[in-house]
Amino acid sequence: MYRTKRKIKKGPIIAAILIVVIGVGGFFAFKEIRYRMSNTYKLLKIGYNETETNILIEKYDKEKLKELIQDKTLDSNIPKLLQQKYYLEKNLDRYLTYLKDNPEVSVKDAVSLVNVNRDRDFYEDMQETDTSKGDLMLVNKYYKLTKDFKLDDIVPISNQFAYEDNEIRKHVYERYRSMWNAAKEEGLLLIVNSSYRDYETQDAVWKDYAEANGEEWADNKAARAGSSEHETGLALDIVTNNVIMNEFENTEEFKWLQDNAYKYGFILRYPKGKENITGYEYESWHYRYVGEEVAKEIHDLDITFDEYYAYYLDK
Ligand code: DAL
Ligand code: ZN
Repeated sequence: MYRTKRKIKKGPIIAAILIVVIGVGGFFAFKEIRYRMSNTYKLLKIGYNETETNILIEKYDKEKLKELIQDKTLDSNIPKLLQQKYYLEKNLDRYLTYLKDNPEVSVKDAVSLVNVNRDRDFYEDMQETDTSKGDLMLVNKYYKLTKDFKLDDIVPISNQFAYEDNEIRKHVYERYRSMWNAAKEEGLLLIVNSSYRDYETQDAVWKDYAEANGEEWADNKAARAGSSEHETGLALDIVTNNVIMNEFENTEEFKWLQDNAYKYGFILRYPKGKENITGYEYESWHYRYVGEEVAKEIHDLDITFDEYYAYYLDK
């Protein structure tokens, strides 16, 4: 008996190996080509690190990302800005310009400052404020009231709660009286020192300051006519017995207001350390009514009304 030797055919095996090699190689080549076409690859190539690249891909506007890749722009401030809580896309170019012009300013501060327009000069290009925002209207060195702004719900403040000749909007008066009573229960006395002022009165206040010590000095302490919250009937200067303005911050009444004013809808409008944002020296006595909900948010977020307005209300 002879065994027939089986002949192995090599052709199909070689063909199979070739198919596998080409398949695997092609797969990896395809993956590589796809990677090289990806935004990740292009951003890393421009010089962004991995974290910055991920932030840009995740958070940056698609069109802007395209432009940045085309122009091969390397600016590590962009991913930093994208991570800021109060980043507003519409302000991106202004943030970048501000940071370039002010390299000592942090990215976080640049966002706050530009959001409240501090890259522009005070009292230049003033906008008329949107009074339809009611208790949330913004009046400052960029947003003004018109000269004919009128209020029809101004009421006198009784001498029990204020020095002579003070007036305020009715609903603000109600909330102030609730606050006054709550403070009284704690043995504290709040007194309104200044409240609603019309355009002419505010003009006189500012001019008095300017005549006494010059315009720059006056601008740090008082608003020019049309730009004061006192003209909105929503602001109260609150002090206590025998205490002049600058000393108010050392009183128990001030401490109480710090912890409680927001519960009645009031915020400290020109806080210490925020002078560059508000445009005014610290005023421990100036309280602005914004309503309880927003006052609580501002209190919890620990930001100024200018910042709050720019981010949450200026839509
Ligand atoms: N003192 C504040 C800023 C005002 O004049 O309205
Ligand atoms: Zn005031």
